[in-house]
Amino acid sequence: MKAAIRRSYGSPEVISVETIEQPVPDDDELLIRVFATTVNRTDCANLTGKPFIMHLMLGLIKPRKIIIGTDFAGQVVEVGKNINGFHSNQRVFGFTDMGLESQAEFIVLKPKGNILAIPENISFRQAAASLEGAHYAYTFTRKAAIQSGQKILIIGATGAIGSALLQFLKTFDVYVTATSNTQNIPLILSLGADRIYDYTREDFTQDDEKYDFIVDAVGKSTFSKCKHLLKKNGIYSSSELGPYCQNIFLAMLTPFLGSKKVIFPIPYSLTETLPYIKSMLEKGLFNPVIDREYALDEIAEAYDYVLSGEKTGNVLINL
Ligand SMILES: NC(=O)c1ccc[n+]([C@@H]2O[C@H](COP(=O)([O-])OP(=O)(O)OC[C@H]3O[C@@H](n4cnc5c(N)ncnc54)[C@H](OP(=O)(O)O)[C@@H]3O)[C@@H](O)[C@H]2O)c1
Repeated sequence: MKAAIRRSYGSPEVISVETIEQPVPDDDELLIRVFATTVNRTDCANLTGKPFIMHLMLGLIKPRKIIIGTDFAGQVVEVGKNINGFHSNQRVFGFTDMGLESQAEFIVLKPKGNILAIPENISFRQAAASLEGAHYAYTFTRKAAIQSGQKILIIGATGAIGSALLQFLKTFDVYVTATSNTQNIPLILSLGADRIYDYTREDFTQDDEKYDFIVDAVGKSTFSKCKHLLKKNGIYSSSELGPYCQNIFLAMLTPFLGSKKVIFPIPYSLTETLPYIKSMLEKGLFNPVIDREYALDEIAEAYDYVLSGEKTGNVLINL
């Protein structure tokens, strides 16, 4: 089978697409044919080993898993005899931030709540694009205990996290303001934004609008730059650690320093987030945004694009 392989941490130049032996499932594993996967920001961290904490999780000197990939949508080919709840030809999708070796034609997996059946109305492409960004987006909606009538600002609603978060928030009765580049304003309006700042022309921090919850989905702001925009008891959260990892320390300190606080979005378990995503897909409340699509042979190019920080929603690899 063909697989995207890297034997060291580094830039997309370390990736080679090679023909290797197809994996054979154990009794407690599924063999899955992969039809679509994404190149996402978690994959980029796994590829580059940055931030350095990734080395502690994936292998200190070099990565333990040589095949890259964290998500997939595909079809069950073989079911290990100790496995219940899955069958041959079943359409399934799954994600694990530490890597599933899914940028390959076939994978073997032990299902641990990180693989679910794809809803009937959803294609392999849509299913693969519904995982990584949506998993992190769910965390923001749950941590902030959203209530109807709130005003929420999403900084960077065009990313994989931001575009999923906007759709999740719109299932609550809330007023969402979002920042976007000029080109993506029609997209962000179609996803439900009530108001938009074109970040290439306007500085939202200069406005006098006040919010219950500010989410920086692309890690471009800081709490200090946004604090004056928060209402009393308002919450700020970011998908990045911030300068000097300040968001971790602020999350510990701000609850004792005043009414406005920072929360750090440690993701919830996949056993909670994946069923939520699946139900949102089934109800037609979540339509993942798909940007560029590549073949497996072009995967290094896909990584270059995602690392540029300019993707809109999700970048797909079709197999
Ligand atoms: N905490 C975690 O576990 C975790 C996991 C995954 C990702 N992340 C981080 O979360 C962030 C978002 O990930 P993602 O996959 O959603 O990002 P992404 O899809 O790569 O985000 C790219 C989008 O952000 C927009 N953008 C860039 N600068 C902006 C700015 N100053 N204001 C508004 N929008 C801006 C870009 O628009 P333009 O094209 O106009 O530049 C582009 O549409 C990344 O920084 C990633 O490293 C964290």
